[in-house]
Amino acid sequence: MKFISVVGARPNFMKVAPLVAELGGVAGAEHLLVHSGQHYDEQLSASFFRDLGLPEPDINLQVGSGSHAWQTAEIMKRLEPVLVESKPDVVLVVGDVNSTLAAAITAAKLRIRLAHVEAGLRSFDPSMPEEINRKVTDVLSDLLFVSEESGVENLRREGIPEEKIFLVGNVMIDSLLGHRDLAARSGILEELNLARDGSAPDPYAVLTLHRPSNVDDPHVLGGILKAVSTVARELPVLFPVHPRTRERIETFGYGHYFSDGQTARAGLVALRSLGYLEFLCLMDHARLLLTDSGGIQEETTALGVPCLTLRENTERPATIRHGTNQLVGSDPERLVAAARKALQGDCPKGRRPPLWDGQAATRIVKILLQRLRPCSGAL
Ligand code: UD1
Repeated sequence: MKFISVVGARPNFMKVAPLVAELGGVAGAEHLLVHSGQHYDEQLSASFFRDLGLPEPDINLQVGSGSHAWQTAEIMKRLEPVLVESKPDVVLVVGDVNSTLAAAITAAKLRIRLAHVEAGLRSFDPSMPEEINRKVTDVLSDLLFVSEESGVENLRREGIPEEKIFLVGNVMIDSLLGHRDLAARSGILEELNLARDGSAPDPYAVLTLHRPSNVDDPHVLGGILKAVSTVARELPVLFPVHPRTRERIETFGYGHYFSDGQTARAGLVALRSLGYLEFLCLMDHARLLLTDSGGIQEETTALGVPCLTLRENTERPATIRHGTNQLVGSDPERLVAAARKALQGDCPKGRRPPLWDGQAATRIVKILLQRLRPCSGAL
């Protein structure tokens, strides 16, 4: 049995890691890991491979950055000969980035069985590039592995046959639970002077921002930074800055919103992009997360840390129904008011959604193996 997993961008790496580990334990299973090269910076890619214990990719397509159409097409062009030559039984894709979409189309056109992990999530917001990637990937997939109940409902509504849909839990949470102890020893709290000699850290919040709708418009980005710097008068807000956001902050001249100097002890503090373990440690001890990321909504729910999502919608409603997440959009006044309330403890306490128990990859591989047995006739 031959599997090829295709990954490309930061949030793919923690989703594929438990699958790679699980497939590694299956006798007779061969697995190739293909990296599209969508993310190529050390801090967005190689450091994640190290932190997650992922092997070096077997093949790197080195596609780099470009427009959505260019990047998707270029990955397809470079992946096609790899799939033709290696003839996998199944192509595995995770999440909703451009690399996911490109690999899905390439596999489907070659009539190779396609499995999508994190299928069925929908924001119902067509202005999100990821929403297009998810819908196309799902319609092409033979096996759809779903992380939360809403995903099953969405796929049923879209007419995906029942026998292709499997509610298995969340592979990202597999990685989180598997690395939480290691993350606690990452040393980032001491490096930032937030904790000394293993003592409990001083209170702080964490901000992440990278979504085009929040960072590409100077008015929206300026409003968010102004609001967060107001929150940062009450406790330091640590902001690991994505390269795209860093570029926008420089272009729009928004450096004045940030604290001077190297200390993380006051104000809005810009940090380099952090590795997986460092960021997990920072989240785990934070009083509050402010974010426009999809994955962080799930990770904070699993950790029980309050999360304010700077978007008007979420494709991950389980984080609101069960977890600690609240949608606050990007309106500055609403953001400051919600942050103040959350810091006073007026926020959902939350619990882990069903099946977010660290066993999702085990369930997925079991189903894949059942389906691939020559006599099963399925798929
Ligand atoms: C991508 C995903 C998004 C995911 C995010 C996590 C899509 C459509 N978007 O967004 O879903 O949440 O990754 O980070 O796939 N760049 C670098 N170094 C890199 C890679 C990119 O500096 O290693 C810069 C380039 O200027 C590039 C820009 O970031 O043009 C955007 O990169 P891209 O991969 O296109 O999208 P992200 O915004 O990272």
